Amino acid sequence: MSLFRKKSLDSLMQQAGDTAGLKRTLGSGNLVALGIGAIIGAGLFVRTAAAAGQHAGPAVTLSFVVAAVGCAFAGLCYAEFASMIPIAGSAYTYAYTTMGELVAWIIGWALILEYALGAATVSIAWSEFLNKLVGGRIPYEWCHSPFEKFLDANNVMHHGIVNAPSLLILLLLSLLLIKGTQESAIVNAIIVIVKVTIVIVFIIVGWQFIKPENHTPYLIPADAKPAILPSGAEYTYTNFFRHGWGGVLRGAAIVFFAFIGFDAVSTAAQEAKNPKKDMPVGILGSLVICTILYVLFSYVLTGVAPYTDFVRSGKEASVAYAIETYMTNYGWLAKLITVGILAGFSSVILVMLLGQSRVFFSMANDGLLPKVFSDLHPKFRTPYKSNALLFLFVGTFATLIPGDITGDLTSIGTLLAFVLVCVGVLVMRKSDPNRPRPFKTPLVPIVPILGILVCSAMILSLDNMTLGVAFAWMVLGLMIYFGYSKKSSRLNV
Ligand code: ALA
Repeated sequence: MSLFRKKSLDSLMQQAGDTAGLKRTLGSGNLVALGIGAIIGAGLFVRTAAAAGQHAGPAVTLSFVVAAVGCAFAGLCYAEFASMIPIAGSAYTYAYTTMGELVAWIIGWALILEYALGAATVSIAWSEFLNKLVGGRIPYEWCHSPFEKFLDANNVMHHGIVNAPSLLILLLLSLLLIKGTQESAIVNAIIVIVKVTIVIVFIIVGWQFIKPENHTPYLIPADAKPAILPSGAEYTYTNFFRHGWGGVLRGAAIVFFAFIGFDAVSTAAQEAKNPKKDMPVGILGSLVICTILYVLFSYVLTGVAPYTDFVRSGKEASVAYAIETYMTNYGWLAKLITVGILAGFSSVILVMLLGQSRVFFSMANDGLLPKVFSDLHPKFRTPYKSNALLFLFVGTFATLIPGDITGDLTSIGTLLAFVLVCVGVLVMRKSDPNRPRPFKTPLVPIVPILGILVCSAMILSLDNMTLGVAFAWMVLGLMIYFGYSKKSSRLNV
């Protein structure tokens, strides 16, 4: 029994053909909107400030460019697979047909980091912005993890207990998913318009408040003055990954989170009118639009507020903070933006929870996870047990772990999936060269190899703790695979 046994592509395509009910209704415009709906979220509105404050300074704009380049290479590889195997399951399914069951399992396991922890991260950001909206009335203890503390103006130290608002939004959205409420193209388009408008308004209004001295020097110098943390301790910039190009690279690994979601377009491949043309346009179009918005947005944010603010008071709800502190008379804009951001975060969380339950669904159907993950509700036809278990799992992370940690783990899981998708394109070109490829990744093997290199560099620039936790997560995954999944796989039948 081989670890590299594969699911045949023909049987997959057959399965896709059997899937009654999924209509090919999405054009390239809808797919770009779907991508942007899943992409713009906490990465932009929260992690930009973290990356700028702790690692890259104003050069966080360059971090966005590096991250976008890595995503573009991976995106081109995704586009080849999505047009060639236009069925749900995304990277996990591609791996099952190209590199075999063990690699598919590894990707599926890594995707849990992407989707489940991604949902946790965005729910933590949701909680921060909600607190900002209600004027900080939620006690610190009830909207932070037990691993966070804060020294207030009266020198009193507060320790987090549980992040209750995160739990609340996760519960509401999980219930919505169980009920089967579908994020229709129209609702998604409305949220996308709101999000994009917010970003553009901030860029235009904020541009007038840019202070050139905040952008000078553009890269953090090695001898930059330390910033003061909320706990009162100093945050120094001497470490390789906290200034100069090392900082830009670490910043890229952090803001990479902001691009996660473009791969969600590939999960809609079965619903695309003309996957050959629409998939690449949807995946790459949403990437290009977001990259332009991100670079401009981060240029304005770091021009309005000095980057050192973002390790202190401006760490949370940074956009609202920058507006309220430096853009006088625009308090109303901060409120409006906060409401829009809350709506925008909700759609990201929803798509992530949905994506996770789809991956679990495919894995359970393949026998790699227990059947409970593919049981459908008798009336709503949704994987309700999976949604409920997922809520408990994601909720545990969201309420107990700080957002920086869950965010970095999300990035590492996604980057790993991207690397394996790039490898998959190379493998498939050798093993099945004659299979029709409606969209071909250009310049193979250069593009997949560059994708592997850039994404691997971002993985390696993450901090040791994140790498250690991710490694432990993968070891746990392998133990489950060899202890359970390998024996229960449907390929045994
Ligand atoms: N890209 C999504 C976000 O930034 C995950 O929230």
